Amino acid sequence: MEKIILDCDPGHDDAVAIMLAGKNESINLLGITVSSGNQSIEKTTLNALNICQYLDIDVPVAKGCSHPIIREVEVCEAIHGESGLDGFEFPCLKKELDSRHAVQFIIDTLLNEKDKVTIVVTGPLTNLAMALRLEPKIIEKIKRVVLMGGSYQMGNVTPASEFNVLCDPEAAHIVLSSNLAIYMITLDVTRKVLCYDKIVERMKKINNKASDLFVALMKVFNENQHKVFGYLGAPLHDPVTIALIIDESLVQFKHTNTEIDLSHGSSYGRTNSDLFDYLKKEKNSYVSVDIDVERFWDIVETSLKKYEVK
Ligand code: BDR
Ligand code: CA
Repeated sequence: MEKIILDCDPGHDDAVAIMLAGKNESINLLGITVSSGNQSIEKTTLNALNICQYLDIDVPVAKGCSHPIIREVEVCEAIHGESGLDGFEFPCLKKELDSRHAVQFIIDTLLNEKDKVTIVVTGPLTNLAMALRLEPKIIEKIKRVVLMGGSYQMGNVTPASEFNVLCDPEAAHIVLSSNLAIYMITLDVTRKVLCYDKIVERMKKINNKASDLFVALMKVFNENQHKVFGYLGAPLHDPVTIALIIDESLVQFKHTNTEIDLSHGSSYGRTNSDLFDYLKKEKNSYVSVDIDVERFWDIVETSLKKYEVK
């Protein structure tokens, strides 16, 4: 069982990542920490609480950084809507937030655990970067970082940059410079897991609370991804992180050097992954290069089936 903290900014695909992590016997979810990203911190935090309450995922949820380290907040309303999670009406919220700031929650949890913990990040890297700066001792307690971010091909916000990294490139730089084992799930593979209608139909047949949520969210996610990018099925970026932990053979990686472009030019936020080792720099990341798409959908289906029947 891998112990994880999931740091996220829900977000439709973050919501599916939470679903995958929430009831899986190979994952011990120690808590969920939230950052701004797809929407403001107030909205992403509310969304995380709502998802956990609705799916009966009984873990602490801690609210994190409202702003990137240097940049201004930039949300992703065109894809995730005004609420950050448009498409589903949750029941009245009773679940309460953990009293600690997410950065403190990450530090406390890591220092109190005797085992090493994996940090999964499916949003901007601000909370993790701040935790690393505030308490460098946590480095010894982190087994690895599995993050969704970056691209060695083209970006999805600018020609060069992917959303999570561009939201807070300086935070990404701190994480990539930490000497931790970093597994980067990049757009290069997440653009292969497209949630076509036939996938939505397949999940709908499960007919439980999780599949209801999945189907409702994917309707809006697919429509918006179609409007913005022309996709017929939305790339389900974030759940690939959790699916990898469930099945380590799911994604192929290349061990390589990755540097974040911090130059403030048109490639600001680009993850320069040196897959051909031109620069002979120290390898600091495992960058995703391929994924078993069928296996991914099997993992999503199996994970959704673990939830309560209606
Ligand atoms: C990432 O950006 C966000 O909009 C998604 O939730 C995902 O984490 C993809 O670039
Ligand atoms: Ca996300």
